[in-house]
Amino acid sequence: MHTIDEAAAAGRKIPRHIAIILDGNGRWAKKRGLPRALGHKAGCEALERTVEDCARLGVEFLTVYAFSTENWKRSQEEVSALMQLFAFYIPRLRKRAMANDIRVTAIGDESRFAPELARMLDELVRDTAENKGMTLVMALNYGARDELRRAAVRLAAQVQRGELLPEEITEETIAQALDTAGIPDPDLLIRTSGEQRLSNFLLWQSAYTEFLFPEVLWPDFTAETLTACIEAYQKRDRRFGGRKEAGS
Ligand code: IPE
Ligand code: IPE
Ligand code: MG
Repeated sequence: MHTIDEAAAAGRKIPRHIAIILDGNGRWAKKRGLPRALGHKAGCEALERTVEDCARLGVEFLTVYAFSTENWKRSQEEVSALMQLFAFYIPRLRKRAMANDIRVTAIGDESRFAPELARMLDELVRDTAENKGMTLVMALNYGARDELRRAAVRLAAQVQRGELLPEEITEETIAQALDTAGIPDPDLLIRTSGEQRLSNFLLWQSAYTEFLFPEVLWPDFTAETLTACIEAYQKRDRRFGGRKEAGS
């Protein structure tokens, strides 16, 4: 295994876009006899580290699944602890993103968040919009089915206004109507905690993504876990449905 700087220096194909399902905060807390909220806090700290590790490695896009459209089903106590953590970490993230030239965008439906939290999120996106380094995409109140539904509504409205013919709807117009418009599809998707499912994350965008499911619980994710994941990715053979050239 190599360190972050060695991995960057090796100059091998660093995935252009990494997506991570940040899972296992609750189990991390349970193992320590702590409340789940402290697992989420430790998860936020792991995220701060990982954002900067990815930026240093030269990853261009990092998408993180931090709150799903289904996570509202959790206890009111847990949901409100998560909302408080977001309110605490978003302004911190803004400062760190400015210091590291990171652009932050958000995917998901922010209309369900309290107005104060939605405002913080808008500020984070607006203030970092001109940064030229890595793009961090925060998936907050994100669900891929909800994203596809909202895209369908947008396209239907364009058709209704006479701006688009039904037969003009292509894969490209659908991709442009999604929250991820302008963001390349993820090359590598990592879900921590050993769970092996998408849980409604990036269903459209992950058609040809490589998946990794390390056992590590999200708060324990380190630079070493990240480089191990990238090394495993570098061994994958991506064919996109094609064939290797004869003789190779
Ligand atoms: C992921 O950790 C964070 C969120 C979903 C917000 P979990 O809270 O799902 O942790 P586990 O799966 O219960 O361990
Ligand atoms: C997926 O994790 C959502 C996030 C990590 C934000 P969950 O822990 O909510 O997913 P399930 O319920 O185990 O599928
Ligand atoms: Mg979970």
